[in-house]
Amino acid sequence: MKAIIPAAGWGTRMLPAAKAVPKELLPVLDRPTIQYVVEEAVAAGCADVLLITQRDKRAIEDHFDRNAELEARLTASNKIELLASVLKLAEHVQIHAVRQAEQRGLGHAVLQAAAHVGNAPCLCLLGDTIFSTSATDVPLPSAQLINAHHKLGGTIIGLEEVPAEKVGRYGIAGGAMISPGLMKLSTLIEKPTVESAPSRLAIAARYVLAPSIFSHLQKTPPGKGNEIQLTDAIRLSIDAGEPVHGVVLSARRHDIGNPLDWLLTNIIYASRDPTLWPRIKAMVAELH
Ligand code: UTP
Repeated sequence: MKAIIPAAGWGTRMLPAAKAVPKELLPVLDRPTIQYVVEEAVAAGCADVLLITQRDKRAIEDHFDRNAELEARLTASNKIELLASVLKLAEHVQIHAVRQAEQRGLGHAVLQAAAHVGNAPCLCLLGDTIFSTSATDVPLPSAQLINAHHKLGGTIIGLEEVPAEKVGRYGIAGGAMISPGLMKLSTLIEKPTVESAPSRLAIAARYVLAPSIFSHLQKTPPGKGNEIQLTDAIRLSIDAGEPVHGVVLSARRHDIGNPLDWLLTNIIYASRDPTLWPRIKAMVAELH
């Protein structure tokens, strides 16, 4: 399956940090956020990844490009581990890029992938969100969704339970739970009020999209925020009687699209690093 990574948004919540450096390139510990996203797609078996960027975010493409001069320099100075770290991904995946000329919403960004994806399902991962699981043998969300797609076909949406006061920030799924953690969707509502929310299960940055999504997106009028919403196009797919399921993800979501959550994500990842954490923990304990 091909993977697509929308990363063309303005990232206003991350200003001024994300003015010249795309938010997707801000690091979590030792590597840019979007590298974790590509690694997740590769771990799920995707060998072809399309980045959806924009003219001011070309550094994202540069990050995944080979750099012969840098590689020669690392080889000459015998920095073998560093060299391996910059080459590792390139061996497993072909990265492509397309530009979204105007920021007309996530749905419009996904539409830019139509020609590259063709008439096949694709994995869609938002470039500003990463996930961690409780153990290394628990697969990341992309693999969980692709597994579900192999069993059920159609569109599969990653879901996460959110507290009632936060439903207004997300696309919320409604439908019937057909087995633990698996919902057959009958509706999707973008940023509902608490009263109108059909559940507390929010769309969580990962999807397997059936190929019909592109024709639905072409018919989707601008919605919330005058943007073409992917949520609205998936609702058209539900209304057309196509199978759309939601999988409650066994994973923790880390959104790096705002300063607080980006910092917390770094602290959480540091806390799992046995060499870093004792030093950071001791330093944090000394504060105040
Ligand atoms: P967000 O809602 O986080 O918007 O987009 P944003 O523009 O990135 O950030 P803020 O709200 O201004 O701080 C969700 C996802 O959709 C992509 C973003 O890159 C992000 O991965 N997106 C959004 C696009 O690719 N194009 C768009 O026109 C809008």
